[in-house]
Amino acid sequence: MWLDLPALESLLKTDRLGRRMIYMTSTGSTMDVARLEADAGADPGSVVIAEEQSAGRGRFGRSWVSPAGTNLYFTLILRPPSTALRSLSVVAPLAVCRAIETRTGLAPAIKWPNDVLIGGRKAAGILIENELSGASPRFALVGIGLNVNFDIPPDSEIASIATSISMELKREVSREELMASILNEFESLLADAGGVVYAAWKERLETLGRRTTITFRGQTYEGMAEDADENGNLLLRTDDGTLMTVEAGEVTLRPPAPTH
Ligand code: BTN
Repeated sequence: MWLDLPALESLLKTDRLGRRMIYMTSTGSTMDVARLEADAGADPGSVVIAEEQSAGRGRFGRSWVSPAGTNLYFTLILRPPSTALRSLSVVAPLAVCRAIETRTGLAPAIKWPNDVLIGGRKAAGILIENELSGASPRFALVGIGLNVNFDIPPDSEIASIATSISMELKREVSREELMASILNEFESLLADAGGVVYAAWKERLETLGRRTTITFRGQTYEGMAEDADENGNLLLRTDDGTLMTVEAGEVTLRPPAPTH
């Protein structure tokens, strides 16, 4: 079933987010459509949504599995001041976690930098692309993919690492309610971004205190994910004792070392 846009709109409590929706039954990637819209002057808060993506993409050029009519694929167009740019990678995963929790009672966690996990498997991914003009942002695109009513085929390449809300709950849930809650949470978190939001994000960051391998700027580092700062950076204590600030990268979580 396709998204019921009037139902989605009726659930919005936002001033700006989602007040203009660009809806497509199918597209390559909502990131590309959003970029064209942003370049053409789209108002901040505009959202590009697709029922299906033929070239959905994730971080590091990976693809994002995007079958029709079951999940959520959308990109928010924002025009934040440069001081607020960094908060997006804190606000976005937290908004998704809170929306899932409120609508389903599930307890999602964040795998740094911004994967949303349920029961250790990935339910949502977030892709943030900033377009800068000198040091100031022209726009930021926040792409969110959430597996909602998706029965992941057991032979799919993502079967062992991914999950969906319906697989966790053993029932289908309303995509309209989830999407409206994400937009509502997102806007209110953006308005309060700062210490409280950071603390709530950090509380859900399951990466902390775990042994972690990070590939960052072509190098691989091993150590303990010791802390995270207010900009969403991870502080990694490498095995030689150095505390490294990691801005972005690929994090592989290791199970805690066995104790004897
Ligand atoms: C990741 O986990 O690597 C990020 C995945 C982001 C997927 C979403 S789906 C909507 C938007 N359009 C895309 O092509 N990608 C993002």
